[in-house]
Amino acid sequence: MLEQIKQTAEYIRKSVDRLPDTGIILGTGLGELVDHIDIVKEIEYTEIPNFPISTVEGHSGKLIFGDLGGKYVMAMQGRFHYYEGYDMKQVTFPVRVMKELGVERLFVSNAAGGMNKEFKVGDIMIITDHINLFPENPLRGKNYNELGTRFPAMTEAYSHRLIKMADEIAAEKGIRVMHGVYVGTPGPTFETPAEYEYFRIIGGDAVGMSTVPEVIVANHASMEVFGVSVITDLGGKDVTDVPTHEEVQKAALQAQPYMTEIIKELVNRI
Ligand code: HPA
Repeated sequence: MLEQIKQTAEYIRKSVDRLPDTGIILGTGLGELVDHIDIVKEIEYTEIPNFPISTVEGHSGKLIFGDLGGKYVMAMQGRFHYYEGYDMKQVTFPVRVMKELGVERLFVSNAAGGMNKEFKVGDIMIITDHINLFPENPLRGKNYNELGTRFPAMTEAYSHRLIKMADEIAAEKGIRVMHGVYVGTPGPTFETPAEYEYFRIIGGDAVGMSTVPEVIVANHASMEVFGVSVITDLGGKDVTDVPTHEEVQKAALQAQPYMTEIIKELVNRI
């Protein structure tokens, strides 16, 4: 794995003039952020050695380098989901490569179903913590001490400092933001009413099919993480709405300008 990370990083290093210290995974809700980036260089995933290829509808796959409101960043347009069939090492490989390139801070977004009864569709939830319900941990197997410690702490998987800054930005801009615990599941099914209820009882506020693997690896690599979910549907034992992929995309589009605003400001204030 070390060889592959180095080889991939080397390829990218040769393709760009400058390397960023900030990485962004443009999940659902942040796609539009690309329009705010002054793009210097784009690299298709298909061109990058060892990179998996994104397959899911609504996600194209490329790495983008450029200026976001004055801050030089790299962004992943399209991520790799466990439900697509990738293993945990493949899902998190780009985060390893980012770290190898010098990225110290990772911003991630996703779409999630809300279990918290205060939540409304279209809400933005700043992720304060997560519960890993994927069948596997991306760190399972041989530990490479060069990449991180065998038993990494997860006490502050989402940087308190960045959460506080995001709260300040949201307050200044009058954007409603919720806080909550993200439950990461393998998917691809949405939850049964009993499952939404169960996730709420164990301490979850929202549930989705991504983010947790990448965040675990970013923490292993001592990166500072900020995560945000857009609440695209609501679930629970008394909720009868049936979430669809289209509905999720639509709700995400509504929240998008606000998510974009917060992230753009945040990367520039650090
Ligand atoms: N469950 C899981 N993943 C999701 C959901 C959901 O309700 N909404 C958007 N992604």
